[in-house]
Amino acid sequence: MEKIRVELGERSYDITIGNKILSRLEREAGRTLLVTDSTVKKLYAREIASALGTEHVFSFPAGESSKRPETSLDICRTAARLNFDRKCRFAAAGGGVTGDLTGFAAAIYMRGIEFIQIPTTLLAAVDSSVGGKTGADIPEGKNLIGAFHQPSAVVIDTAFLATLPPAELKNGLAEIVKTAVILDGQLFEQLERDPESLFQKPDFEKTYPQIIRRCCELKGMIVSEDECEKGRRAILNYGHTFGHAVELLSDYTLPHGQAVAAGMAAAGELAVMLGVWSKECVRRQKALLNMLELPVKIPGKYNTCDLVAAMRRDKKNLNGRTRVVLCSDIGCAQLPVEADEKDLTEAWERIR
Ligand SMILES: NC(=O)c1ccc[n+]([C@@H]2O[C@H](COP(=O)([O-])OP(=O)(O)OC[C@H]3O[C@@H](n4cnc5c(N)ncnc54)[C@H](O)[C@@H]3O)[C@@H](O)[C@H]2O)c1
Ligand SMILES: [Zn+2]
Repeated sequence: MEKIRVELGERSYDITIGNKILSRLEREAGRTLLVTDSTVKKLYAREIASALGTEHVFSFPAGESSKRPETSLDICRTAARLNFDRKCRFAAAGGGVTGDLTGFAAAIYMRGIEFIQIPTTLLAAVDSSVGGKTGADIPEGKNLIGAFHQPSAVVIDTAFLATLPPAELKNGLAEIVKTAVILDGQLFEQLERDPESLFQKPDFEKTYPQIIRRCCELKGMIVSEDECEKGRRAILNYGHTFGHAVELLSDYTLPHGQAVAAGMAAAGELAVMLGVWSKECVRRQKALLNMLELPVKIPGKYNTCDLVAAMRRDKKNLNGRTRVVLCSDIGCAQLPVEADEKDLTEAWERIR
């Protein structure tokens, strides 16, 4: 069992990582409402509730379609009916949907109470459970409602990952590759050396705890530097401006990790075109994504003009200009740059 500290002054917290660690954690005083989705409830609610010492469980139907502000309000209303006061806390056990909704509920219930994250998807373990971005979708767009609200603890038990369907594992792997490409050349080399232990024969006892630890350490570092994404935190969007465009055109039927993988492939091509990244770096990124069975071509028959138009609508853009994160080496991302529509089209064409 290992601990990483996310330094944020009075909002600092620990991330605890290990295999089969949940039952070994110390129980906290105070009442807890466990929030989970229908799938995770069936698999793990009893075990998690018992580890937390609570019998209060709120669950909602699994899937992104539940990620609405109304679900967060339902969490708050359940807490109110249970007479939860400011000293009570919420615990989010599940993927990013559960974490984002529960965090948002914790941000607004009585103007803010504590919550802890118990991620059960790989994506949530390496990405969404750390950093305090919480929220929900509205019909006008994904994640348009939300608040920054840091968890008071993150507990990652890799034993939960064993029941993840391969497609969900891949969503997390895409984010791991992203983290390595933007921040850690050595982690990238490790992934290159042994992709089997991540996907074909996943090792949840040793490889995963170590890699998740490194990803959390890196994300924690970036969040400590720039909690509210005024600057450097934006590099975590590598591959995402391109990726979100394909997700949007697929009406969100394409899994996020696949969109981000194709997005990284397109960002790599653009970086080579602009002379900031070498062809060798693009080749290595592509080879690793291939080994993890993630796409390196546009996944679907989309027109490049439509993809560029969809990129223009990304909520991370400023003043209507499309901004993308590019890398100057493996393990080294640059701050977002404005990109020309002609160049964006060409980058997409190169991965058609
Ligand atoms: N807050 C952030 O910083 C941040 C970062 C990235 C993504 N996100 C958000 O996270 C969401 C995506 O997260 P996700 O991919 O974890 O989706 P998710 O929460 O919908 O989980 C994916 C699926 O896996 C199932 N599942 C969860 N744990 C399981 C387990 N151990 N075994 C079997 N099945 C399990 C869930 O029931 C669900 O059907 C998106 O809404 C995205 O916007 C947030
Ligand atoms: Zn992502």
